[in-house]
Amino acid sequence: MEMGRATPLVRLRSGAADRAGVGLYLKRDDLIHPQISGNKWRKLKYNLLEARRRGHGTLLTFGGAYSNHLCAVAAAGRAFGFCTVGLVRGEETFPLNPTLTFARDCGMTLQYVPRPQYRDKAGPAWLGALRDAYGDFYLLPEGGSNALAVRGVAELVNEIDVPWQYLCCPCGTGGTLAGLVAGAAGRGQVVGFAALKGGDFLRGEAGQLLREHEGLTGEPVSNYTNWQVQTGYHFGGYAKVSPPLLAFIRRFEGENGIRLEQVYTAKMLFGIEDLLSAGFFGRGAAVVALHTGGLQGRLPQLDGVG
Ligand SMILES: Cc1ncc(COP(=O)(O)O)c(C=O)c1O
Repeated sequence: MEMGRATPLVRLRSGAADRAGVGLYLKRDDLIHPQISGNKWRKLKYNLLEARRRGHGTLLTFGGAYSNHLCAVAAAGRAFGFCTVGLVRGEETFPLNPTLTFARDCGMTLQYVPRPQYRDKAGPAWLGALRDAYGDFYLLPEGGSNALAVRGVAELVNEIDVPWQYLCCPCGTGGTLAGLVAGAAGRGQVVGFAALKGGDFLRGEAGQLLREHEGLTGEPVSNYTNWQVQTGYHFGGYAKVSPPLLAFIRRFEGENGIRLEQVYTAKMLFGIEDLLSAGFFGRGAAVVALHTGGLQGRLPQLDGVG
């Protein structure tokens, strides 16, 4: 199984970083794979190996109709020879949006689950019914975050070849954040930026994933306290955008020639710029931000669809 090489680390042009005397870098995980981009690849890597080791031929997972995770699992299934089943939250709507079209075209079987049932998606009764319908499968949680995902994300920290004091990432389920905390192994500070409103829950989620990772590896990752979640940069909620965010994206892309995805990475970079202006990072610090990819979701959301 080909698992990708180290992704580039680039120094960003940023007036805010210059004024703060900070070196700002972007870890280009968006370049990791054309369809299984960013943190999705990192989170899937050990899960795919585990599925193969256990002899599973089918991956089953869950997600919303615009889920990058569903796309990534569908693409990974096609690339590595797994059948894939995606349980999609809500009712089927026509025409299929680009996310679900992509997943279907990769060969994913899509099953729609009404919202009340979806809430109980990992319950034993449901899983039993799904095994009756699809046979034996390897279950990937929504968003792909579990202890093996933490292990995969942790690996990227060792690819960073500049001395750093801060690692930053966007957060949806907290899996990527937990992975950076595990990879940092007590060094520096890890800062997650919640992409959704009410992001305080992410502290609990990331903490739980760290405990699961500790159970798997024996590394004392749940003891680390060098991490935090910034909850003030959600721009009104998940996938919500506003003119200041869009203006920031345009300026950033013009200055750096790097495309940003607006649901996660752009909100994090906006937050970092704001914290730079507030003197949060301290003069002389090096800050490494993670571009988590996911650009395939961008156009429909920019157009206000979904
Ligand atoms: C592009 C992208 N970035 C960041 C995240 C957030 O990662 P996590 O769920 O591990 O917090 C996601 C979704 O999970 C994503 O699709």
